[in-house]
Amino acid sequence: RLGKALVVAIDGPSGSGKSSVSKETARRLHASYLDTGAMYRAVTWYCVNTGVDLADAAAVEQACKDVDLQISTNPDDEFVRIGSTDITDEIREPSISASVSAVATTLGARAELVRRQQQIIADSGRRIVAEGRDITTVVAPDAEVRLLLTASEEARLRRRGLQLGGTQSDADLHEQVLARDAKDSTVVNFSEAADGVFTVDSSDLDFEQTVEAVLAVVRHAAH
Ligand code: DC
Repeated sequence: RLGKALVVAIDGPSGSGKSSVSKETARRLHASYLDTGAMYRAVTWYCVNTGVDLADAAAVEQACKDVDLQISTNPDDEFVRIGSTDITDEIREPSISASVSAVATTLGARAELVRRQQQIIADSGRRIVAEGRDITTVVAPDAEVRLLLTASEEARLRRRGLQLGGTQSDADLHEQVLARDAKDSTVVNFSEAADGVFTVDSSDLDFEQTVEAVLAVVRHAAH
């Protein structure tokens, strides 16, 4: 199947294992990988560091248009840059996580980022695993494979806690996983699968089993 168009669109909530599973799926398919959440985080970083008021929708939208944002699509060499500044690690900091919904809920910002994401998918030769919240519905509704990766609330809280080193209080975790998803859900629906979108529930699966389940959907849907 090498060389054939294969866009795999994966949506899901925080802590569903979306990023790590999508990245590994991309490796196994010899495809590119796009973490669209990293783009929302990068714009948030840019606004915070250039004094753009996150509450000013027009200014945030303009920032999305102005920003010189580069994101790697190589699953084995991830980076995010603004101009010549590498912000790969900084966009994961709690202060960014806490502010990113302000960008994600600004509709004009979404329109600009969706446009950039569609360009990146086209530039990949349409051989890419792209993950986020609105990939199956808005960014790539025409993808060969569309999939919603879900997990129980309990599993998501546990995974995000482990990811953050197990040092977070229950209240902090709740804020970072459930409250953020609740905010983002006001503009995108990633809790139910749209028509024609497969669901993989990873609550009772380990990492390898989840990747296998996703690859099974890819084999089924792409034929
Ligand atoms: O997946 P993540 O935690 O890195 O996502 C960061 C934020 O961006 C999160 O608040 C949801 C939002 N997001 C979005 O609204 N649409 C996407 N396609 C990807 C992420």
